[in-house]
Amino acid sequence: MIKFPQNFLWGAATSAYQVEGNNTNADWWQWEKAVHRENSGMACRHYEFYEQDFDLVKSLNHNAHRISIEWSRIEPEEGKFSQGELQHYVDVILSLRARNIEPIVTLHHFTNPIWFSKAGGWVDRRAAEIFLRYCDFVVNGLAKHVRYWITINEPNVYISHAYILGVWPPEMKSYLKAKTVENNMLLAHIKAFRLIHKIYKELNSPKPRVSIAQNIMAFVPCTQALKNRFAAMLRNRWYNFSFLDKAIRHKTLDFIGINYYSRQLVEVKRWGINSLAADVCEKGHHPVRKNSLGWDIYPEGLYELLLKLKNYRLPIIITENGICTQDDRLRWDYIYNHLKNIHLAIEKGAPVTGYLYWSLMDNFEWDKGFGPRFGLIDIDYNSYKRTVRESARLFGEVCKTGIL
Ligand code: BGC
Repeated sequence: MIKFPQNFLWGAATSAYQVEGNNTNADWWQWEKAVHRENSGMACRHYEFYEQDFDLVKSLNHNAHRISIEWSRIEPEEGKFSQGELQHYVDVILSLRARNIEPIVTLHHFTNPIWFSKAGGWVDRRAAEIFLRYCDFVVNGLAKHVRYWITINEPNVYISHAYILGVWPPEMKSYLKAKTVENNMLLAHIKAFRLIHKIYKELNSPKPRVSIAQNIMAFVPCTQALKNRFAAMLRNRWYNFSFLDKAIRHKTLDFIGINYYSRQLVEVKRWGINSLAADVCEKGHHPVRKNSLGWDIYPEGLYELLLKLKNYRLPIIITENGICTQDDRLRWDYIYNHLKNIHLAIEKGAPVTGYLYWSLMDNFEWDKGFGPRFGLIDIDYNSYKRTVRESARLFGEVCKTGIL
């Protein structure tokens, strides 16, 4: 029998911009319109329907739920903070609490206020300071009701998409700028971590638990050729561990939040920085099943990474893990096999204390629009009707019993 530890956090995750709808003050909103992409528009209308969505969460036996706060709602103009929007998030969190669901709250999930981006965004040397003012306002308002915080979601994904590949706003392709953003995000995290702890102390509240959500990937050399092994090692170090290492060196993680989806099969054409950083096998070697975006499904990679993460001696929460697919049986298969590997890692001593599926519902998948279906719950974008998928029910049983 596969049985998970007592008090395990079970649930799902969303982010504000992807589900709320109508986030007109965010830089993404402006960018979508400018590049004529599928627009996020009303998204899932979760901003209005959160109560009924949380009823579904409850009916699926989740005891935890990850949301994010939309910075551009809270601070639509520089230095002008909205009490009304803060109250909205207080209501959202209280409605989770009323259902006995532990909120896990992210402060930055890819989007920024338009004014912040215009002023240089995360490249600007004042970025961390500006972000901190927003954190101060939000954390003071929510501290009484929240224990778990994620300061920044996936700095490595944000940096690589927005500043290296140039496929997300502000569409930069500059290693130099990417490095600056990394430094600024690290500083922002460190300062936010300390600020959150300080606020809880002043309020005499029980200690908060603060982390980032780190995207990690299984980098697997396609062949044993030296350049493939070397590149896989480099990517593993830079992409998976460098930000975490730094945050830990500054003693600014109370737990490790990780987001795991897929494998990258590393096959390097030539020695050279670009090839070492990005080349992948294009010949279909070592085939595995894929999600609808073509990402490899590779649950054993999570097991291996968890054993490495164990060395940090901090509790680990899987803050995202999920699949986009039209085939709901494949979704359950994906969840089942990832949970199995997580359990194996727990048996080997990896202190995993929670699992959040990405995502509670189908939503706006950034530059890919509404096509990819990651949800435990299906969204009909014409009627906004919610339909619980079978995979959600199966996962709900695990959440209820702790038994896979
Ligand atoms: C992000 C989510 C995204 C998901 C699927 C993660 O990288 O945090 O916002 O929707 O992956 O691509």
